Amino acid sequence: MERLRKTNFLTCRFLKQTDLKILILGSGGREHAITWKLSQSSEDPALYIAPGNAGTLELGENVDLDPNDFKAVKEFCLKKQIDMVIAGPEEPLVKGIYDFFKNDSSLQHIIITGPSAHGAQLEGSKAFAKSFMKRHHIPTAAYREFDVTKYEEGLEYISRHPMPVVLKADGLAAGKGVVICENAEDARREFSAMLKDEKFGQAGKKVVIEQFLKGIELSVFVATDGRHYVLLPEAKDYKKIGEGDTGLNTGGMGAVSPVPFATNHFMQKVVSRIIEPTIDGLQKEEIDYRGFIFFGLINVDEDPYVIEYNCRLGDPETEVILLRLENDLIDIIRAMHNGTMDKVQTEFSQNNVVTVMAVSGGYPQKYQKGFPVEFRYLKNPEEIKHLTKKGGVIVFHAATKPDKGKVVTNGGRVLTVSASSTSLPESLEIAEEILRQIHFEGMYYRGDIGNEFVK
Ligand code: AMP
Ligand code: GLY
Repeated sequence: MERLRKTNFLTCRFLKQTDLKILILGSGGREHAITWKLSQSSEDPALYIAPGNAGTLELGENVDLDPNDFKAVKEFCLKKQIDMVIAGPEEPLVKGIYDFFKNDSSLQHIIITGPSAHGAQLEGSKAFAKSFMKRHHIPTAAYREFDVTKYEEGLEYISRHPMPVVLKADGLAAGKGVVICENAEDARREFSAMLKDEKFGQAGKKVVIEQFLKGIELSVFVATDGRHYVLLPEAKDYKKIGEGDTGLNTGGMGAVSPVPFATNHFMQKVVSRIIEPTIDGLQKEEIDYRGFIFFGLINVDEDPYVIEYNCRLGDPETEVILLRLENDLIDIIRAMHNGTMDKVQTEFSQNNVVTVMAVSGGYPQKYQKGFPVEFRYLKNPEEIKHLTKKGGVIVFHAATKPDKGKVVTNGGRVLTVSASSTSLPESLEIAEEILRQIHFEGMYYRGDIGNEFVK
């Protein structure tokens, strides 16, 4: 925990003379957490974050680079002699950054987290993911897919479907492409908006209509080389803006790990019914997958079903799971790349970790940016030491940027406070205590993250 404490003071670190150079693509809380975890490595790598935020700046060098501009990423990698590239978000992966590196002889020596564009279709196309699950007998909600040529058929399918029903735009739609409809009229309207009015553009050219599953959600992560895998700690994400899980969906308002209902018994079902058939399926279909798989699961009466696959780590889940992972993340990334995942054994801290996200007023709808963020607690680091006797606390920036020596808000989810201790109530208390000492105009956070698990 000493390490957690140390980094919390966000003392400015300058780039050091080191052999290993790592480029992290992305700018959110997940990428700050990945950068922090890499900064803990005994290899002491030099870290570059593109584009990064005001938090990552404390751990490495921010690079003004668009992760989807592969040519610019290439130039930077060659110029700086980068050894390893980690893609945080899904977009560059779905667009094929892994294949771009693999197929370019000047980049082939660089270790890059995957999957290939083919593997990333697990997230990039809901229809692809559903048919993959069907082929490999992986439990998921019953579904049918429709395009504009089957529009009438789709309307009829909705009329016969029990309510609620779930409509999903096939492609990436910035987390907004899933709509749960309570009645057939709403479902028909939504179906028409997706297919005819192109509400989600290209992403909605195909629509998956699926059975609504009732249960509690769980995020499970593995690191795989496409043949072997290791489990990472699981987490529960809180998606709704309001306390008591009310209001609009967000990117995630907080998370906890471990998750009490993810018992050994339940996780054995997850492994045998979902994870192993998925890895076998990748192998059978010769899909090059050297990266993370995020299984978005739902627990329906003690049986796990897949709601979605993601081809990357979750946000804000990463901000809790990496605090529990005791392995060096660099070892895991090398093993994914080299196909030696069977040689890796993961170890997790048994601490209860929570993260609570502070967002801009108005989020997930309209909000303003550019407000200064005050970290009042930083004036008194001793106070944090006191708070973290049995664990640690760390602030991960999610959407901030440096501005004339200050930190200002730069998006909806601004920062998240992750706290780790031997008990969940204590971690919640620590996170709350720190949040009370952080201020920006319009700041809002949920005060009930993890409360359901406190007896
Ligand atoms: P996704 O974008 O696929 O993560 O879906 C967003 C959210 O919609 C999920 O986290 C679930 O809360 C919900 N959802 C998606 N599919 C279903 C389903 N078949 N049944 C119930 N809820 C669902
Ligand atoms: N926390 C959900 C996601 O990363 O998609």
